[in-house]
Amino acid sequence: MTQSIDSHLNEERLFPVPETFAARAHLDQSEYQRLQAEAERDPEAFWGTLAREHLLWEQPFSRVLDQGEAPFYRWFTDGSLNVAKNCIDRHLQGAQKHKAALIWEGEDGSVKTLTYAQLHREVSLFANTLRGEKVESGDRVVIYMPMVIEAVVAMLACARIGAVHSVVFGGFSAEALKDRLEDTGARILLTADGAYRGGKIVPLKRHADQALLREHEHQVERVIVLQRTGTDIDMLDGRDLWWHEAIAGQSAHCPAPALPAEHPLFILYTSGSTGKPKGILHSSAGYLLWAKLTSRWSFDLKEDDVYWCTADVGWITGHSYVVYGPLANGATVFLYEGAPMYPQPDRFWSMVERHGISVLYTAPTAVRAFMKMGDSWVKKHDLSSLRLLGSVGEPMNPEAWIWYRDVIGGGKCPIVDTWWQTETGGHMIAPLPGVSANKPGSCALPLPGISAKVVNEQGEEIDAADQGGYLVIDRPWPGMLRGVWGNPERYVQTYWGKFGNRYYIAGDSARRDKDGYFWVMGRIDDVLNVSGHRLGTAEIESALVAHPAVAEAAVVGIPHEIKGEAVSAFVILKAAHQGDDHDQLSAALRAQVTDLIGAIARPDDIHFVDSLPKTRSGKIMRRLLRAQARGEEITQDISTLED
Ligand code: WTA
Repeated sequence: MTQSIDSHLNEERLFPVPETFAARAHLDQSEYQRLQAEAERDPEAFWGTLAREHLLWEQPFSRVLDQGEAPFYRWFTDGSLNVAKNCIDRHLQGAQKHKAALIWEGEDGSVKTLTYAQLHREVSLFANTLRGEKVESGDRVVIYMPMVIEAVVAMLACARIGAVHSVVFGGFSAEALKDRLEDTGARILLTADGAYRGGKIVPLKRHADQALLREHEHQVERVIVLQRTGTDIDMLDGRDLWWHEAIAGQSAHCPAPALPAEHPLFILYTSGSTGKPKGILHSSAGYLLWAKLTSRWSFDLKEDDVYWCTADVGWITGHSYVVYGPLANGATVFLYEGAPMYPQPDRFWSMVERHGISVLYTAPTAVRAFMKMGDSWVKKHDLSSLRLLGSVGEPMNPEAWIWYRDVIGGGKCPIVDTWWQTETGGHMIAPLPGVSANKPGSCALPLPGISAKVVNEQGEEIDAADQGGYLVIDRPWPGMLRGVWGNPERYVQTYWGKFGNRYYIAGDSARRDKDGYFWVMGRIDDVLNVSGHRLGTAEIESALVAHPAVAEAAVVGIPHEIKGEAVSAFVILKAAHQGDDHDQLSAALRAQVTDLIGAIARPDDIHFVDSLPKTRSGKIMRRLLRAQARGEEITQDISTLED
């Protein structure tokens, strides 16, 4: 961490807002300042005005914020609306009806476009299918699908009838799916026979079958299976239905009921410091408002943009910035099904050129991977359609930042480095393209309405530019999580406890420079960030310990050129296995983690050790392991070390 603070402190480059950009942007410097001042003066009036202006209400609200049970904040409580109607039906007036809502490209190169009218039809058909399955408002539906149009349709169909979706990333294992099915108590699972990924087929339905084995404690009664890869699969009589058969004969008319503003919209699992991933709960109006506003502000979405967010819908970025935010703005959203480098490293750039992508939102890990392949793959294509670039997932190292700007953006596109989290629902800190000059590696300033601070161990604000501290948010905002599914105590304890409910604690450390710009340094808890994805050390450790040869395990993150961080594991073997072949065991343990969590959690290296450094109270001293995994000399204080 010291190293990254140094490199950030030395970063002095400044790229001003392009003038032509500021002149056309939804938000410019003066508008930004006006909004921030308004939010400061009267936060409720500020949010109330935006909610009235940007959302379509069935029943207008009279109350903006209910703090009665803080930190369980509730927004717009006596209002009602329908999220799907806001994302689709409201764009069916006039010519917009025939505007492309989704342009999808399959890994095999096939292209499908859905106008808003067509999207409305598909969502209605599928919403009626769910209704026919007796899915009621508030019921949970788990979605374990490839990046196909039907995944978006499924989410919006749930939203339309008030069912609560929980999307499970298709790269997660059967075991991870099983945990989420059990925790949500879903009766319905939506999946596909398989997913194309890098020329191979991921057997989603087979994973689903494993997750649904009878001895598990799930409540799934119905599985609807999309035919995508034509893979040979088992269909269980009475439980499994083909998607195309299920929608056949359904009506294309499906009313969109008015749902309370706080009606739950989705649950999305994310890793924390301890235990299993937690189900982050988001509700309807507040989340939608924030997804919509931040899409508009950060990406400056315009009528003729072709917008591409490369995230999978299995992550929060896919929820807020593939589906809800851009569609609520009536944008044209591009979706790509497959692997970024397939069949060649220029796949992304070929798509940018062929589809005329104007706004591209991706992750530093992808940028680094492309940079490594060399400029020639990019130079083969005309990328002049691009006007804005976005980044999310981790701090962007200046080298990758400059490459992104120069080689991808042709030196003319602002880079919007968005800091946010599954829990925040939408962007919190970002250099708005018409407002903030870019500093490579910094996410710049809080968005209008957001009050972010860096505080010390005592909760006092830090003003020295070179001092890091806890990144906290000290005023509620509409897009914030509403809780942890089934575990209210965990919500309070994880996000609010440390400073007596005064701040939302993000779990990141950051510092602010003399211009007030935020520089996020990384997680302060036992969460790793591998390729922009959050993984809990505890989760991976418990996957390792589940192997019969393993007595104890500890996991740390080590720097990785492309992934940002890689998983490094320390394992103590049981006495009976001390003599086992280490290469074979390493392979078996890596396979074990892949089976129990997914390939993203697979350790890069595994060290077999005789003991783990622990404090006298039995806590593993990860900083020592980290130093060892990085091959650094141990110079830290080890006075609390037991052995
Ligand atoms: C990290 C992804 C620095 C951070 C949207 C955060 C970032 C975690 C950035 C959330 C960024 C995300 N700069 N760090 N622009 N974006 N992070 O929940 O550590 O998957 O807490 O949400 O990713 O990850 P999550």
